[in-house]
Amino acid sequence: MLKVIRYSALALLAMIGGLWGYAWTSRAPGQGVGEAFAERLAAVFGQQMPLPAAGGGGVQLPAGISLGGAFSLTRQDGVAVTERDYAGRWLLVYFGFTYCPDVCPTELGRIADVIDAMGPAGERVTPMLITVDPERDTQAALADYVSRFHPRMQGLTGTPEQVAEVARRYRVFYSRVQRPDMSAYLMDHSSFVYLVGPDGRVRLLFRPETAVEEMVRAIDIQFRTLTSS
Ligand code: NI
Repeated sequence: MLKVIRYSALALLAMIGGLWGYAWTSRAPGQGVGEAFAERLAAVFGQQMPLPAAGGGGVQLPAGISLGGAFSLTRQDGVAVTERDYAGRWLLVYFGFTYCPDVCPTELGRIADVIDAMGPAGERVTPMLITVDPERDTQAALADYVSRFHPRMQGLTGTPEQVAEVARRYRVFYSRVQRPDMSAYLMDHSSFVYLVGPDGRVRLLFRPETAVEEMVRAIDIQFRTLTSS
């Protein structure tokens, strides 16, 4: 019996390792290995990972999967904040870093566009960048960076442990990458935009490059779902 368990565990480990390797080699250009792995894992396990919602844009979390929740971080103006400071508000959260050459600026720009496209309803949503690079993303660096995207955008940082904790709760993958041809390091990171509800829980995930109109429509459905329940 023990032998069976041991062999099953080994087989599972081998399969996960293989998937990781497959994700590494087959990921799209610019896609983080973590995100690629999550996609391959979803393809194998189906229900275990977020599935596409039926219409409306965004990815709804299947029952039993809960992302988000408690965190303790520092805002770009130096104020310590927790999830309780955002109770009752909607958030559009992105995990990234200010040195990011391409993907982060694109996604943060999209978040700003979504909020503006929502009109007055957009005021219910706080746009937020949580850094995965707390070493370089100081409050001052974040303050300057987020103000370029949207006047209400908040930039949150913390100790490496605080950042690791919030990333874990949102299942964000990130790791430092040092390329031989570059003096500064980069952060490889998953790139979803999270719609967080007034209870601090993630309602929807948006894949990178989801169209602004699609996001606006999906958020509107979430607004209406909550007010009618
Ligand atoms: Ni980035």
